[in-house]
Amino acid sequence: HVAVLDFGSQYTQLIVRRVRELGYFAKLYALEDFPNIGKPGAIILSGGPKSTADEDAPDLDFDQLEAFGVPVLGVCYGMQLMNIKFGGKVHPSDRREYGPAKLRPEKYEGLYEGINHESQVWMSHSDTVSELPECAKVLASNQHGTPVSLQFGDRYFGIQFHPEVTHSHEGTRILHNFLLHAEKLVAFRIEDFKREIVDGIRETVGDRQVVCGVSGGVDSTVLAVLLHEAGVNVRAIFVDHGLMRKDEGEEVRNNFHRMGVPIETVDCAERFLVALDGEDDPEKKRSIIGNLFIDVFWDAVGDAEMLAQGTLYPDVIESASNAKSKASVIKTHHNRVARILELQAEGKVLEPLAELFKDEVRALGISLGIPADILNRHPFPGPGLAVRCPGVVTQERLDIIRECDAIFINQLKEQGWYDKVWQAYAGLVPVKTVGVKGDERSYEWAISLRAVISEDAMTADWVELPYSILRETSHRILNEVKGINRVLYDVSTKPPASIEWE
Ligand code: XMP
Repeated sequence: HVAVLDFGSQYTQLIVRRVRELGYFAKLYALEDFPNIGKPGAIILSGGPKSTADEDAPDLDFDQLEAFGVPVLGVCYGMQLMNIKFGGKVHPSDRREYGPAKLRPEKYEGLYEGINHESQVWMSHSDTVSELPECAKVLASNQHGTPVSLQFGDRYFGIQFHPEVTHSHEGTRILHNFLLHAEKLVAFRIEDFKREIVDGIRETVGDRQVVCGVSGGVDSTVLAVLLHEAGVNVRAIFVDHGLMRKDEGEEVRNNFHRMGVPIETVDCAERFLVALDGEDDPEKKRSIIGNLFIDVFWDAVGDAEMLAQGTLYPDVIESASNAKSKASVIKTHHNRVARILELQAEGKVLEPLAELFKDEVRALGISLGIPADILNRHPFPGPGLAVRCPGVVTQERLDIIRECDAIFINQLKEQGWYDKVWQAYAGLVPVKTVGVKGDERSYEWAISLRAVISEDAMTADWVELPYSILRETSHRILNEVKGINRVLYDVSTKPPASIEWE
């Protein structure tokens, strides 16, 4: 793996993310942990808020670092520390250089192989390297001729800018080039990682009973299978709120049966419909569903001692950093409601996937033997079809959505497009328009089809589906689904639209 040592920069976790995006397993370590960082194939020293001249400047034993015998990349503070350790000097300054700079590599090879001339890089530092040790070589400078990248001996590289932020346009490429220097690096050893997580679960849980909710989605499925694999005392509970897609409840039960993991179903479709009766405000609908879900789930749980959640790393960042931002007001995501936070404070919440990104969860799922069709399912929102049913939610409307959605998804699968789109669904437009069916006048609702591609759900683009899919889907819906006389295709990007309708 790639060990990232945290000198306190606000960007450190981004380095981990970038390395993982590049397909290598990365782990963040606090400085106190050093040198207990396993057997890394490469080490990255992060930036940090301190000056190397500060009395309490974080330090690192470079003899111990050397003992690992692997390539080391120092970013910002990491590079300055390197320079000092190899005998150079760093000049503290009161002024902070913050913002874009132009990168001028000496040679377009090694760290800078394939990088564009004057590529933009992002600076955020106050100290600068003032005297280079003999073993140092300048790899690149900025537009003022100041060295911003150094190499010390064969294995030590320093960069003054932050490759991990997107403002450094080719930062990921530079990290990739650095990692090419690592010989022992194995691309994402998910097997080792799985063992580590399973051992961690056993240790944390002990002989307590853990409950987890399953929805059929990738994250909760991987979580349940992991807990099962760990052999701890676990109850997996599937709350069927009746807002699922066609035959979805049955499918979820079958899938878990296939994987040999027992689940309990709580069937409460009726309760949700009653609770939602007459409500047409999107936020209120979400909150009704979220709260009732927790109530039902908690009733089913009884007095279990621990709760396991399939929270992923992006959820952690989002709920921490967006707590005060507008983003969290737009929609209330229901895995972070107050009650869970209370439990968390009591140390009763287990989140074994909290360090992972989605692609890593999928890889973990594969190594757990979870069938690919389960791992490659499109995301489905917690509040289910309710967010695809603007206005009031009724049994009739849900049934219509279910039928149309099933036809659309089936077409995508048949024509080989299901795995090419990130998410697709049918949503109801509860507006009646006039049409002709048979020889009769019809006055019925419209259905809207949506298919998007996205990387992280923060932005999305609509997909240029082949007309044959749209034509066949429309034909079948208009012929088979009562109550619909018009089929629309949603050609809105996010932003300004969102993926779901509410
Ligand atoms: P929006 O509509 O916000 O959706 O563009 C972005 C992604 O998030 C999913 N989504 C949810 N997932 N609970 C979830 O677990 C929710 O409350 C929720 N709301 C939206 C949505 O399906 C899309 O993939």
